[in-house]
Amino acid sequence: MSTQKALYVPSKHAPFQLGEAPIYTPGPKEILVKIISSALNPVDWKIPAYGIFVENFPAILGSDLAGVVEEVGSEVSKFTKGDRVLFQGWFGDNKYAGFQQYTLVEAELAAKLPDNISFDQAASVPSALTVVILTNFNHNPTAPTANFTAPWEEGGKTKYAGKPAFIVGGSSSVGQYAIQVAKYSGYSPIITTASLHNEVLLKSLGATAVVDRKLPASAIISEVQKLAGNKPIEYVFDTVSIADTQSLAYDVLAPGGTLLILLNDEIPAEKKNAADNKRIVHGFGSARVSQNREVGVQLFSRLTEWLETGVIVPNQVEVLPNGLAGIPDGLERLKQDKVSGKKLVAHPQETP
Ligand SMILES: NC(=O)c1ccc[n+]([C@@H]2O[C@H](COP(=O)([O-])OP(=O)(O)OC[C@H]3O[C@@H](n4cnc5c(N)ncnc54)[C@H](OP(=O)(O)O)[C@@H]3O)[C@@H](O)[C@H]2O)c1
Repeated sequence: MSTQKALYVPSKHAPFQLGEAPIYTPGPKEILVKIISSALNPVDWKIPAYGIFVENFPAILGSDLAGVVEEVGSEVSKFTKGDRVLFQGWFGDNKYAGFQQYTLVEAELAAKLPDNISFDQAASVPSALTVVILTNFNHNPTAPTANFTAPWEEGGKTKYAGKPAFIVGGSSSVGQYAIQVAKYSGYSPIITTASLHNEVLLKSLGATAVVDRKLPASAIISEVQKLAGNKPIEYVFDTVSIADTQSLAYDVLAPGGTLLILLNDEIPAEKKNAADNKRIVHGFGSARVSQNREVGVQLFSRLTEWLETGVIVPNQVEVLPNGLAGIPDGLERLKQDKVSGKKLVAHPQETP
């Protein structure tokens, strides 16, 4: 069996280490992809730092991928060798993970890359956009979802039109897609918090107003309410989801509204008043698991067109040096909150 270079977490809490991995043969419904761009996510530093999510070691991480189809399974008709594709990697099984030079993916969970999008841009899309789509529009009752009507479904472009949306952390990777999906759904105005140097970028993606995230919470709340014309804000997406931002998000949310979060609920119990009927949805962003798969397949079947027509604009990117070997330093920058408004991307084929 041929081998490739891979970046491993050797054991729980251990630092990353370069090594070798086999190159796998695709199953009937899978494709083998040569990874050109592999983007970094906060979860990639959290897994080794906190010992969460992964129990089988040595483990390969990496969830955001773009590359070239190398081999197709016997039942795959959607792709041929040489196609440019983007898809999510999966850190639960090394065969499907992203911090290596080749990986497998099920064909129904990959999309062709249009000519106007580079591999680096594409790698910024899959996981962050997936968590936004799943958390908003999954209709599977066993999934964590707001169960809203998607813009591609009947009535989905009018149902939320003219309602204000508040997106905490608009310049995060997830936040940028949350803004674009809110715009696609028709919400208006779309108000977000970020550092103000990201204001022009976020307005280009669809934000109506950007409030300085470093202001005191009370000032942010009154500014957001003013910008919403004092209409009740029934849709809030906290794409940062630390304790402070969750509290802020919950305070802005109007009674009867829905708050989407991405990490564990840290909203103080004393804030929660049953009579307010504020719904909290803790999203989970893998399209691969059974309760998310149907909407995941929908997403990847529409993604090529969205990227081609500009419904979805990828994050700005910074390419790290030294291929897979450059990933640990990049993850350290993410951990220290030193990356603003862009996605870090590695080129596994350039690993020394
Ligand atoms: N549940 C799931 O399945 C799932 C999926 C994806 C991500 N997540 C989680 O979602 C979070 C976001 O992920 P990401 O990849 O989008 O992160 P990211 O792009 O690395 O986030 C960096 C951005 O966060 C912004 N930020 C930091 N603190 C902020 C605050 N207090 N208020 C507003 N903005 C703030 C910064 O904004 P400025 O530079 O403008 O200041 C920066 O641009 C992470 O915790 C991640 O683990 C969960």
